[in-house]
Amino acid sequence: MAKACSLLLLLVFAVSCASVVGSHGSHGSKLSPEYYKSTCPDALSIVEARVEAALKKEPRMGASLLRLHFHDCFVNGCDGSILLDDNSVFAGEKTAAPNNNSARGYDVVDDIKAELEKACPGVVSCADILAIAARDSTVVLGGPSWKVKLGRRDSTTASKNAARKFIPAPSFNLSALIFSFRAQGLSVKDLVALSGAHTIGLARCTSFRARVYDDSNIDPSFAKSLRRRCPRTGKDNVPRSLDLRTPKSFDNFYFRNLLKKKGLLHSDQELFNGASIDSLVKKYAANSSRFFKQFSKSMIKMGNIKPLTGNSGEIRTNCRKVN
Ligand code: HEM
Ligand SMILES: *[C@@H]1O[C@H](CO)[C@@H](O)[C@H](O)[C@H]1NC(C)=O
Ligand SMILES: *[C@@H]1O[C@H](CO)[C@@H](O)[C@H](O)[C@H]1NC(C)=O
Ligand SMILES: *[C@@H]1O[C@H](CO)[C@@H](O)[C@H](O)[C@H]1NC(C)=O
Repeated sequence: MAKACSLLLLLVFAVSCASVVGSHGSHGSKLSPEYYKSTCPDALSIVEARVEAALKKEPRMGASLLRLHFHDCFVNGCDGSILLDDNSVFAGEKTAAPNNNSARGYDVVDDIKAELEKACPGVVSCADILAIAARDSTVVLGGPSWKVKLGRRDSTTASKNAARKFIPAPSFNLSALIFSFRAQGLSVKDLVALSGAHTIGLARCTSFRARVYDDSNIDPSFAKSLRRRCPRTGKDNVPRSLDLRTPKSFDNFYFRNLLKKKGLLHSDQELFNGASIDSLVKKYAANSSRFFKQFSKSMIKMGNIKPLTGNSGEIRTNCRKVN
């Protein structure tokens, strides 16, 4: 009797363990770099060619595509939800505050999707396009490469409220940033390394205004020059480079700027503001290959956030609409 009981207990325990593991990130292990090897062998080269063409026209597009993957993954998992336009059933994520007038690159994704539909109709998901395009963008701009895991399916819904709730804001302090990443199963190390994506791309005046008028941990001449372009009121959409030194190259200047109190966003400088994580920033500022290594690892981890697999979701034909 006792034996049967403990056996039963063991069984229950094993089952509940399996389900806990299953609901957190191990879904990510179902993804595989080889996923389209037989069903769409040219998938990776098609995406790569379209990304290269887009970045040749406009290097910033690399930053925009990288950010789309991040904003997709943080809102109910990497499921292409950010790409859905508003419709009569739901308000999508594109018009949520963190994305409205800010997230971009949707046309490039449409272009990639159209090419893929010609080559292998109904096979490659929009969520996977974002993951591959993020990697290819990083590589084109001089950053590290990694093997992108594939096999995510696309959501049939999107959530404006979830986008508002889960995408971190530039006003966040360190504890709020850590909390936001923890909620996605990402560590402090992931937070610091992934923030290094701000080595490329632009932010609007409205995103850094409070930083240049209210913060004290900012280089005074850096603040002064930014205030000239970003008045207390107006010019909300005037952009500045997140990394003023080398805005079009994926390098470790983001971290080197932080050491000089030249982070553009309040949230950026929070990573180097006297807490113990200063040591991580120093490490990445001193050695870009350490940053590159961790960035690659953390991107794979971020790409594993709650993917839809098996019979969940669908493979959208048009990334903007459910089938
Ligand atoms: C740590 C928390 C983060 C916060 C608070 C944050 C916030 C922001 C803000 C406010 C902007 C400028 C938006 C605008 O003014 O239009 C921005 C841009 C950008 N973010 Fe982040 N971000 C964070 C993490 C990340 C991560 C993890 C990635 C990617 C791995 C990323 C990639 C980018 C890129 C590449 C841009 C430039 C986009 C472009 O030029 O189109 N960010 N971010
Ligand atoms: C998004 O931006 C547009 C254009 O600036 C604005 O009219 C609209 O009110 C914004 N939408 C939301 C939901 O904030
Ligand atoms: C960080 O921000 C949160 C939320 O706004 C706030 O409750 C908390 O007190 C802040 N923490 C610090 C250390 O300033
Ligand atoms: C930089 O980091 C890499 C990778 O972790 C390591 O192999 C290398 O020795 C480091 N270089 C220096 C100068 O510390």
